[in-house]
Amino acid sequence: MAGHPEQPDQQPGGGFSTPVGSRRTFFHWVTLAAAGLVGVGLSIPLLSTLMSPAFQRRQRAWVDVGAVDDLPAGHPKQLDHVTTVRDGWLETTSHKAVWAVKQPQGDIRVFSPICTHLGCGYRWDDSENKFLCPCHGSSYDVNGQVLGGPAPRPLDTLPSKVEGGRLLVMYKDFKSGLPTSVEL
Ligand code: FES
Repeated sequence: MAGHPEQPDQQPGGGFSTPVGSRRTFFHWVTLAAAGLVGVGLSIPLLSTLMSPAFQRRQRAWVDVGAVDDLPAGHPKQLDHVTTVRDGWLETTSHKAVWAVKQPQGDIRVFSPICTHLGCGYRWDDSENKFLCPCHGSSYDVNGQVLGGPAPRPLDTLPSKVEGGRLLVMYKDFKSGLPTSVEL
C-alpha cells in the first residue's frame, strides 16, 4: 500500500525515503524568485534615476531680460536675451526676443514674439500704434488683442516677474493656428 503523499515511505531496511529532490528543487526556485524580486526592487530606483530626464517635459528657466525702469510706460519694447532649455538630456541655448509692455499702473505684460496665425515674427509699428505681422497681415493692439487679419487668438503671454528691479521672463513656445494657447 502506497504511503501518504506527505509522509515518508518506509524502506525495506526500516529507513525512510523523503522526496528530497523535489523539495530541493522547490526551495531552489523559491530562492531564485526571491532573489529576482530583490533585484528588480533594487533596480527600479536606479533605472528611474537614469531614465527620468528622458521623460521630463522641457524645463525652462527664468531669464533676466532687463531693468524695469528701462521700459517706457504704455509702449512695447523688444527685449533680446539668451535662454536655455533642457529637453531630456539635451540642453540648448538660443537667442530669443520678447515684447514687454509696461502698463500705466506699472504692471508688465510680456508677449511671445510669434504671431498666433502661422508663427511669423511680428513687430510694433509706432505710426499705426499696433503690432503688425508681415506674413498675412494680422495685427494686434498694445494689449495683444487681435485687431485684424487671420490671427485666431490674441498674442501669447509669457510668465514674467519682477525681482530687484529686474524683469524675469520664462520663454515658452506655443502652437500656431489654434483659437487657444497650447504650449509646446
Ligand atoms: S503668420 Fe502672422 S498673419 Fe500669418
